[in-house]
Amino acid sequence: MDVLAIGDKVHDEARQGEAFSPFANDPNRYSKHFYIESYGCAMNFADSEVIASILNNAGFGATRNVEEANLILLNTCSIREKAEQTVRKRLTEFRKLKERTPGLLIGMLGCMAERLKAQLLEEEKLVDIVVGPDAYRSLPGLIEEAETGQKAVNVLLSREETYSDIAPVRIDSNGISAFVSIMRGCNNMCSFCVVPFTRGRERSRDAYSILHEVTDLVEKGYKEVTLLGQNVDSYYWIDEQKDETVTFAVLLEKVALVSPELRVRFSTSHPKDITDEVLHTMARHENICKYIHLPVQSGSTRILQLMNRTYTREWYMAKVDRIRELLPECGISADIIAGFCTETEEDHQDTLSIMRYSGYDMSYMFFYSERPGTLAARRYTDDIPEDVKKRRLQEIVDLQGQLSRASNEKDLGKTFKVLVEGNSRKSDADWMGRTSQNKVLVFPKKSMDEQLKGTYVMVKVTDCTKTTLRGERSK
Ligand code: SAH
Ligand code: SF4
Ligand code: F3S
Repeated sequence: MDVLAIGDKVHDEARQGEAFSPFANDPNRYSKHFYIESYGCAMNFADSEVIASILNNAGFGATRNVEEANLILLNTCSIREKAEQTVRKRLTEFRKLKERTPGLLIGMLGCMAERLKAQLLEEEKLVDIVVGPDAYRSLPGLIEEAETGQKAVNVLLSREETYSDIAPVRIDSNGISAFVSIMRGCNNMCSFCVVPFTRGRERSRDAYSILHEVTDLVEKGYKEVTLLGQNVDSYYWIDEQKDETVTFAVLLEKVALVSPELRVRFSTSHPKDITDEVLHTMARHENICKYIHLPVQSGSTRILQLMNRTYTREWYMAKVDRIRELLPECGISADIIAGFCTETEEDHQDTLSIMRYSGYDMSYMFFYSERPGTLAARRYTDDIPEDVKKRRLQEIVDLQGQLSRASNEKDLGKTFKVLVEGNSRKSDADWMGRTSQNKVLVFPKKSMDEQLKGTYVMVKVTDCTKTTLRGERSK
């Protein structure tokens, strides 16, 4: 496998590197059209659904055909240098289109817009509009401004904005799973990370609006929601009507109670914040999926300190023990960074050993990419040579392959309740679904006109690779 490609993985594997375009149901309703591509984490994809809603209300329909667009939007990511390069390359591809299409506007949204602000307009002459993650409500006004030939920028960050009253337009979705943002921003200051600078201070969304959105999704036939935040365990909202404090555990329970038929997932948990209360809540509700994404970043306490992660190796291992104790069936995955500043071979071995200890089912693995303005960029030297970073990353990737295979082999002979998402990617004679642990399980259709999408099926695992389980329907 190509290490660079792995190093550039985004948060949600299913959507990795994929650009998606929300598409209005009836494009003929609108006289103007926008085309949007999203990069980066699930939160950016969720934001694009909010943007689609704002633009629909301003008279723009979505199109999947870039040639038809009056407005091209790139919802961008700054997490690693490679993510920014991908967007810049994409922009140059739009150059010719812009030259031959009078009036075509190009807008940069998201984290890169926030990081580079008006500087982007100087660097990228093609760009007409620059809008940061907290300023999407101003998009219609900025588009009007840009239509008069001015460059339009709004990168103000907010302490309050959660877009709670905007119903996201779920267009390119499979109709079964949806993302629901529960908070924005991040108050942690992991030294390697650009997110606190691009997304601003942490704020939690009104719990009622979250429950309203989830209820609406259930009514529309959705079967799974993923509650999204950079650090979901620090969700905190005060219900002034009832004088009740809504923590993440409380919210999770409220969402689980919306419908027993609805699967509930969440991402991401910071190891320092996930509480026993959350684990007990997960144990109490069958429909809260037994899967926790618990980014470790490094297995070395010294490196974790430099990263400002606020936990030690031992503390993290104790958290894994606690999850295994309270939720024996729970899947665990991680994010891992290879080659952070000053990382020695010994530190790297600590990362490999914590991976073995935790027995991750899956990981997102990256090599360190220095981001301007972060604490690490200001305080430490990015001193690990690229070849060493890549070699260490490859060792991490190889080990994860073994761990994933071992984890899947443990499932042979077991029966899982699977939510069917659609055809298997490899063959439309097979169904593809996920287990509660978020593993992909493929099983044969009984006939080509069988309708199982969006239903739960019990499947017994008979075979596996390191990425996929295969099985047969159990009677
Ligand atoms: N809020 C989440 C992570 C969001 S970013 C959390 O705290 O877990 C997703 C992942 O990208 C991080 O977990 C980290 O592994 C990786 N990442 C972030 N900044 C990076 C950088 N500068 N270089 C390489 N990987 C980075
Ligand atoms: Fe970045 Fe750390 Fe916040 Fe995650 S918790 S978004 S890694 S600063
Ligand atoms: Fe990227 Fe911004 Fe998400 S930097 S990972 S799109 S929060």
